[in-house]
Amino acid sequence: MLRAAGRGTAAAVVALLVSASALAGCGAWGTAAEVRQLEAIRPLQIPPLADGRLDGDGRRVFRLTADEATTDFGQGGPADTLGFNGSYLGPTLHMRRGEEVRVRVRNRLQEMTTVHWHGMHLPARMDGGPHQMIEPGARWAPTWAVEQPAATMWYHSHPHGQTAQQVYRGLAGMLLVSDPQAADAGLPNDYGVDDIPLVVQDKSFSSDGNLIVDPEGTASTGFLGDTVVVNGTVAPYRDVSREALRLRLLNAANARVFNFGLSDDRQFLIVGSDGGLLAEPVAADRVQLSPGERAEIVVRLQPAERIALTSYPPELGHGIGSQHRFGSGTFDVVQLRAAGELAPSPQVAPLLAELPAATAPQDAPVRRFGISGRAINGRPMDMGRIDEVVPVGRSEVWEVMNQDPQPHNLHVHDGSFRVLSIDARPPPPELAGFKDTVYVAPRSTVRILVRFDTYTDERWPYMYHCHLMWHEDLGIMGQFVVVGPGQDVRAAG
Ligand code: C2O
Ligand code: CU
Repeated sequence: MLRAAGRGTAAAVVALLVSASALAGCGAWGTAAEVRQLEAIRPLQIPPLADGRLDGDGRRVFRLTADEATTDFGQGGPADTLGFNGSYLGPTLHMRRGEEVRVRVRNRLQEMTTVHWHGMHLPARMDGGPHQMIEPGARWAPTWAVEQPAATMWYHSHPHGQTAQQVYRGLAGMLLVSDPQAADAGLPNDYGVDDIPLVVQDKSFSSDGNLIVDPEGTASTGFLGDTVVVNGTVAPYRDVSREALRLRLLNAANARVFNFGLSDDRQFLIVGSDGGLLAEPVAADRVQLSPGERAEIVVRLQPAERIALTSYPPELGHGIGSQHRFGSGTFDVVQLRAAGELAPSPQVAPLLAELPAATAPQDAPVRRFGISGRAINGRPMDMGRIDEVVPVGRSEVWEVMNQDPQPHNLHVHDGSFRVLSIDARPPPPELAGFKDTVYVAPRSTVRILVRFDTYTDERWPYMYHCHLMWHEDLGIMGQFVVVGPGQDVRAAG
């Protein structure tokens, strides 16, 4: 199948700059793995911020309606898409620590879906994984108490076997948790002004502007697109009016790993990972995210300059087979255009959060998860099988081994974990905070410290899985229940 279709039409609108590295690299121009470098021509769309409404019980209520629509990405015509409360993606849900929330979800699609709250600590029945299916025309209204640190999280559909295509077509959005009790860390926090969500994906378009929907793609990792799309915008720029900008980076791609940096290689501060703020800001010039991972970074700008948030070739590890690479190109993600005069921004505090030490108790049990082919520990996902039974409140070490020559990662539901080691070495500082998804390089081993507090359910499981979405759909996923003392495990429904 010709994956580069549509380039002719798009070229009429968008100037294509073939990057030298794309031509020089092994996967020359025209292979599926390379992303086109585009000139920034469209203002970045910012998803609306949804604050919900307080009901009579003091519970914050949100509404999400999944529907079919068309969206014009400017690639030659309208594309068939899915969205929550709009034609593509969904609003940014703002939840506050310490509050009860309810989300009234309505499925107006012609197919089943679910809505999973990626990164949330919550009861299994509210998790929105493959067991909380919402039939076409049906509603679902999960409720839970938000009890976790401020963080950049997201929500997305999660029906078993259909996640890749539904998320690709648009069923995803950001979910921000804020903490009214937390000390001000000097971070930009004016949503849509100096606090910018970036939902980063790669897609391909046909010559009439429609999305090419092909979750499997031609790579063993799943579909790789040739066009980067940010918050639903192709070739975006963003006007900047303040000295400092917080970018909330979400890799919502199917398979691609983005290695973010700035176009002039200047340093920025990494201030947050998946599950919350880091203990201290980390000065860096790159931050790499695999699908499902998030990072918060703070970038400082000079008046009147133009720089771009860029994706550089990812570092996928030494064990990778040459056929599994994602392309060698460098491409802009969003251009930042600073105003001639920038309003001053506060300095980021030297201490951001107090993190408990990430050390496993001496007697912590170790569970092993070997990812190979389409299975974890030799077993592909089975909705009717509970793979692991975990006592509530117990610290455990989960040892995740990627036995393949291709990239995987691991996402665990029901909150955050800590990375203990990567190939027996301590994690780099940007991975030392709260995580819920971690890259596991080919032929390498990552040990994480998990503990599931508060909620038990002997019947409804949570998931752990590779978040490369085609892998997840293929069955690189398992189910665990969290049980209290004396609880018996029954088969999942
Ligand atoms: Cu982001 Cu099980 O998912
Ligand atoms: Cu995988």
